[in-house]
Amino acid sequence: MDKIVVEGGARLSGKIPISGAKNAALPLLAAALLPSGTSTFKNVPQLADVRTMAKLLRMLGWDVEGDSALTIAAPTGKKKPKLEAPYELVKTMRASVLVLGPLVARYGRARVSLPGGCAIGARPIDQHLKGLEAMGAKVTLDHGYVDVEAKRLRGATIVLDMPTVTGCENIMMAAALAKGRTVIENAAREPEVEELALVLNKMGAKIQGAGTAIITIEGVDELAPIEHAIIPDRIEAGTFAVAAAMTKGDVLLEGARPEHMDAIIAKLRAMGATVSAEAGGLRVKGGDIKPADITTQPHPGFPTDMQAQFMVLACLAKGQSVIKEMIFENRYMHVPELGRMGADIQVSGRVAVIRGGQKLTGANVMATDLRASASLVLAGLVAGGKTEVLRVYHLDRGYEAIEKKLKGVGAKIKRAKDA
Ligand code: EPU
Repeated sequence: MDKIVVEGGARLSGKIPISGAKNAALPLLAAALLPSGTSTFKNVPQLADVRTMAKLLRMLGWDVEGDSALTIAAPTGKKKPKLEAPYELVKTMRASVLVLGPLVARYGRARVSLPGGCAIGARPIDQHLKGLEAMGAKVTLDHGYVDVEAKRLRGATIVLDMPTVTGCENIMMAAALAKGRTVIENAAREPEVEELALVLNKMGAKIQGAGTAIITIEGVDELAPIEHAIIPDRIEAGTFAVAAAMTKGDVLLEGARPEHMDAIIAKLRAMGATVSAEAGGLRVKGGDIKPADITTQPHPGFPTDMQAQFMVLACLAKGQSVIKEMIFENRYMHVPELGRMGADIQVSGRVAVIRGGQKLTGANVMATDLRASASLVLAGLVAGGKTEVLRVYHLDRGYEAIEKKLKGVGAKIKRAKDA
């Protein structure tokens, strides 16, 4: 298995190209199940999660070819799609559940393994199922699988208990081919939800309001394949922005879209960085690092996917920061590992208190979640001596060539084989 080895102390300077967004790519690949014919996506990030989604689509019977330009072709002739997402795949990637909405809408049936708990919390899919049931689907659970059936889904008004991102995406994809009008209230407002609506509309769907809390979908009878370039990853960009701020560097995040990153940019500025939108992307220059209080919230609030990275920044500030994780109940796996590197962080329930200014020293560390692993790489960039981040497969789920991108701006970092 690979590990990432970092020598702390380098100041980052230069340009980092930002890849396509993982959390946009995953629902878009699932959306390719809706039309007949071949859809093409460009700017597809080369990530383990994207490969898992491609593998799932192939298991369902679609042809998936390519890498950063990816074509997805629906089964033709006598080839019948298989309407099941098996446990082996769903357990490695919860986003596999995104095939549920498209399959039921188009083929009237789907069987998907229940994801169960994951490293960052319980993460149920009750809202996805509630939405499909409201649209007339029959949902049954057996042997750890959820079976969803509906001859033709019909439009409904669905009020989500919380603005779930993939839940909203699943319901939107299902509603695109339902009969009549669906209204999703308390909808997720993430840019990735907007991106999915844009792509579905390109396919011929009639969706309005994506990016706001109320999304209206007029169902249509069929959708057509499309070609589309995926938006840049705001979380990857945010992670490198923190790296620049931490090392007092000066980095241009090429392609980053500031309009997707308001909450991240606001906290970077509050913590002492200079952030400016430039023609080629977003430029981040580090300054004296100040403490801050951060509460994670659904978009447009501060994203949970940036909480671990900002915690490392807070470790470098002189003074006390308070972080509240309000989305997932168990997303502090990085805390004990950062503690081993010398950080002073006290967690009580959802609240973490960080006493910044302690000296960080390199250590062997690992985490069981993608963003937690990224935060350990960041800590390695400023810790004295050598840090080895193990279990790199978590990083590879969501960061394309993280070590190459950081090396390109001057970090002393490499990938090595773990003995
Ligand atoms: N929830 C429920 N019931 C549901 C759905 C969600 O109780 O039916 C709860 C969850 O347990 C959680 C909250 O609602 O407490 C929000 O979860 P959400 O459904 O929005 O998360 P998700 O759709 O499973 C996506 C991203 C995550 C990101 C979250 C929050 C994708 C593929 N994943 O997950 O990304 O953290 O939204 O923004 O879009 C990551 O990239 O590292 C990552 C974990």
